[in-house]
Amino acid sequence: MAKYGLSAKVYQTYVGDFHGRSASLYAGQTKAAEKVIAVCTDCHGFHEITRTDAAGSGVLKANLQKTCARCHPGAPPNFPAAWLSHYEPSPKKAPLVWATALFYKILIPVMIGGLVLQILLHLWRVVVNK
Ligand code: HEC
Ligand code: HEC
Repeated sequence: MAKYGLSAKVYQTYVGDFHGRSASLYAGQTKAAEKVIAVCTDCHGFHEITRTDAAGSGVLKANLQKTCARCHPGAPPNFPAAWLSHYEPSPKKAPLVWATALFYKILIPVMIGGLVLQILLHLWRVVVNK
């Protein structure tokens, strides 16, 4: 995919997202047949799959709201913007989502490390340094 200048992470980003998560969770279950799950062909089509920038493409920005509205009735024009498509958050794409994830990646180890350090210091005070 990367060789043709296409995002090589379309599958990972799909599976990491709500639609793909559902597809993975319901995989192989009989319940899956009753449930509406958005798979690749729901957005990209079947025989009519084209370049994402072709005029008739269901995933072209101009047609995207209509594609989503098939399952999300009443989706407003800015509905597709609520979703990251096949992109991963980065400083350029969705910087707020990227920064929030980074913040927690730093905060959580510091908090847990601090707690463990505090417990160890307490033990040291109680046991060694009375
Ligand atoms: C909910 C709708 C949706 C689903 C489901 C979906 N896609 Fe997409 N896909 C899009 C949209 C929208 C774009 C256009 C992104 C853009 O141009 O910004 C896109 C773009 C792509 C591209 C072009 C990437 C590029 O860099 O131009 C490929 C390839 C692709 N999808 C493959 C897949 C595959 C494979 C699956 C299933 C595993 C899938 N898509 C599932 C909506 C979807
Ligand atoms: C084939 C049906 C289908 C299509 C097409 C579809 N979705 Fe969904 N979407 C769902 C279902 C069903 C859920 C509930 C989660 C689940 O079970 O997968 C969902 C969940 C979501 C959610 C999570 C919030 C919520 O309402 O549950 C967002 C955001 C979303 N979709 C955006 C989009 C966007 C943007 C598009 C168009 C690019 C799109 N969807 C196209 C079926 C679809």
